[in-house]
Amino acid sequence: MKNPFVYGEEVTGDAFWNRTKEIQELSRDIHNGQNVIIFSARRYGKTSLIKTVLEKVRKEGVLTVYVDLYPAITKEKFVEIYAKAVSRSLGKPTQRILDTVKRLFPKLIPKIVIRGEGEAEFEFDYEPRSVFKASLPDLLNAVHKRALEEKKEACVAFDEFQEITNYADDEVEKEMRTVFQSHRNVSYIFLGSKKHLFGKLFQDPNRPFYKSGKHMPLGRLPLSEVKKYVKERFAQGKIKLTQEVLSLIGGRSGGHPYYTQLLCHILWDECLDGKEISEKDVSQDLEKMLERESQVYETIIDGLTQTQKNLLIALSSEPKAQIFSSPFLSRFHLGSASSIQRAFQGLIERDILDKENDHVIFQDPFFSPWLQKRQ
Ligand SMILES: Nc1ncnc2c1ncn2[C@@H]1O[C@H](COP(=O)(O)OP(=O)(O)O)[C@@H](O)[C@H]1O
Ligand SMILES: [Mg+2]
Repeated sequence: MKNPFVYGEEVTGDAFWNRTKEIQELSRDIHNGQNVIIFSARRYGKTSLIKTVLEKVRKEGVLTVYVDLYPAITKEKFVEIYAKAVSRSLGKPTQRILDTVKRLFPKLIPKIVIRGEGEAEFEFDYEPRSVFKASLPDLLNAVHKRALEEKKEACVAFDEFQEITNYADDEVEKEMRTVFQSHRNVSYIFLGSKKHLFGKLFQDPNRPFYKSGKHMPLGRLPLSEVKKYVKERFAQGKIKLTQEVLSLIGGRSGGHPYYTQLLCHILWDECLDGKEISEKDVSQDLEKMLERESQVYETIIDGLTQTQKNLLIALSSEPKAQIFSSPFLSRFHLGSASSIQRAFQGLIERDILDKENDHVIFQDPFFSPWLQKRQ
């Protein structure tokens, strides 16, 4: 039997667990034309959730568009990527769809290209400087217009939406806000994973998107549910887990979707030779899991200043520390409070640390144990 635990890109079907409450709430919001802002750190399951929800409401008759803005690194690229996403949502590129596309964005020039496997797709050519400005309103109105024509509700999901803060100016941001405001029949979902940038977009009173939707933070999976899914999946492979082992898996991965899947994936591979899983196996596999993630953590560490590294190492050995207090600074030879203040700010902006209530936490729950192990 194939390993039922999947980690990496988004998951669907059997590998997608729970999120029942979120699916219901989001579906309701979409049918009501409500705009929703979904934030979580990376690998909490935003993309998996939104794709699952879009598939559900599409079957209920909603016109759905999913756009990944991660590759949309300039505003010109945004136009191209959004135009492509909207066209894709209209159907396979036939002459009839081509006519619709031409009517919806008259200033862009569509062409149909055939990919390797014979899959046809739209691409858009335009002279960026002159056409960009003129094509933007058409493009941003396209889904609304199409939904009215078809007498449908519509939903557009912008994944990694914080990327628009990197554009040369705020033209796209402003135009989007102005245009979207009048679209009662379209629900816009904004998803983001970089807290610092995403927060700026929606929490700064001077920015166009301030207070422009309902916030829906995405947390970890409920522990009882995680245990249920893990138990079921192992049972399908005729592997029984004791209550203690299940609790240990749940406790250590803490309902973090990605790490739960990764840990269980490794555990599953281990018991291929019919071995029963013990608590010791779980502990050993947690170590293996950290090893597998090493590359990711090394890359993060490489990009930091020495003071930032020192602060992270100190925090990993004293998780609830008051990081600006003299005893902490001197115990770990961290230098002045002002340089730590700067280092801390940099780590927040890089989405490595976060503030929770009164103390500082690592955004990635396994970064700290990895750092400790590395010492
Ligand atoms: N609902 C879920 N059930 C089970 N695993 C999940 C779920 N959501 C996410 N995951 C795990 O997290 C990984 C990353 O999910 P993804 O949707 O790409 O997260 P994000 O978009 O927030 O970065 C998946 O490969 C999977 O291992
Ligand atoms: Mg994602």
